[in-house]
Amino acid sequence: MSSYRRLNNTNIEIFPIGLGAMPLSLEGRPSEAQAIEVINTFINGGGNFIDSANVYCVDDNDVGHNEKLIAKALSQHPNANNVIVATKGGLRRPKGEWTVDGSPAWLRASCEKSLRDLNTDSIFLYQLHAPDPDIPLTDSVGELAKLKDEGKIQYIGLSNVTVEHIEYALSIKHIMSVQNRCNLFEKTSFKNGVIKFCENNNITFIAHSPVGGHYQHAQRADNVVLKKLAEKYSVSPYQIMIMWLLHKSPNILPIPGASKVSSIEDSLKAERVELSKEDMQLLEANIK
Ligand SMILES: NC(=O)c1ccc[n+]([C@@H]2O[C@H](COP(=O)([O-])OP(=O)(O)OC[C@H]3O[C@@H](n4cnc5c(N)ncnc54)[C@H](OP(=O)(O)O)[C@@H]3O)[C@@H](O)[C@H]2O)c1
Repeated sequence: MSSYRRLNNTNIEIFPIGLGAMPLSLEGRPSEAQAIEVINTFINGGGNFIDSANVYCVDDNDVGHNEKLIAKALSQHPNANNVIVATKGGLRRPKGEWTVDGSPAWLRASCEKSLRDLNTDSIFLYQLHAPDPDIPLTDSVGELAKLKDEGKIQYIGLSNVTVEHIEYALSIKHIMSVQNRCNLFEKTSFKNGVIKFCENNNITFIAHSPVGGHYQHAQRADNVVLKKLAEKYSVSPYQIMIMWLLHKSPNILPIPGASKVSSIEDSLKAERVELSKEDMQLLEANIK
């Protein structure tokens, strides 16, 4: 596998595996010291793209936990300048629930708080966390376009979207990235054309939940076919899942989550694994 990949429409080279920072801030999160060690391990291993969101926290009183944590880790790291932080707005966490709010007022307030929490003047990539069925997408993306024009954000991303959503958003402003759930067990974005559309339109596809998701990863990693291949290549089943995504397209950026140092250390190594064509086919034939 070739190492760093160019982030679409920029001169920025990113390591092909990002860090999904969500597990560092949800219920059951690690200590701050451990969380910072996870981030440091990621950066020291060559990683330079961290995915966050204002709502990676336990509830509405805790919004911004993840961004503040990342800002703290970066403020202490000598290579922080090379690290890109992407965050999101458009959800809320009342009493720990996940709800959608894509209203322009909430997006603006969220972005302004994220700027403070990340301790920056401009957010590199700001993603609409999910389309809000009660708000026209033109209003949500229109507000992000205003934030971009004001310099508060540099690039706009979308998350949890279809091709129709992306086309609609593109009619308003340039879109740098699309982030959808995508892994060996969840291939919707391949089937509904989102990944192909992103490739054809120079939009980076960020695969969230790349090893099965926050609640399902252990069960997914226990799959017999995955375990057999992991044994064959002397790697973990997690690395096989990440490698599968990297082999599917040079335009896909997997962002495995981690709350343990050992998890991110292991995930970063996936970049070195070369899966044969036959084994790619074996995985796809056996895992639908
Ligand atoms: N846009 C959205 O709506 C959305 C939704 C979900 C997630 N996301 C983003 O996508 C990122 C990834 O998704 P996710 O965290 O839900 O799921 P995931 O990456 O599929 O799974 C994360 C969990 O898998 C374990 N893991 C990962 N790599 C491992 C390895 N090599 N060895 C052993 N265990 C490993 C980690 O366990 P430990 O905790 O024990 O280290 C981690 O908590 C999130 O962090 C977030 O940034 C976005």
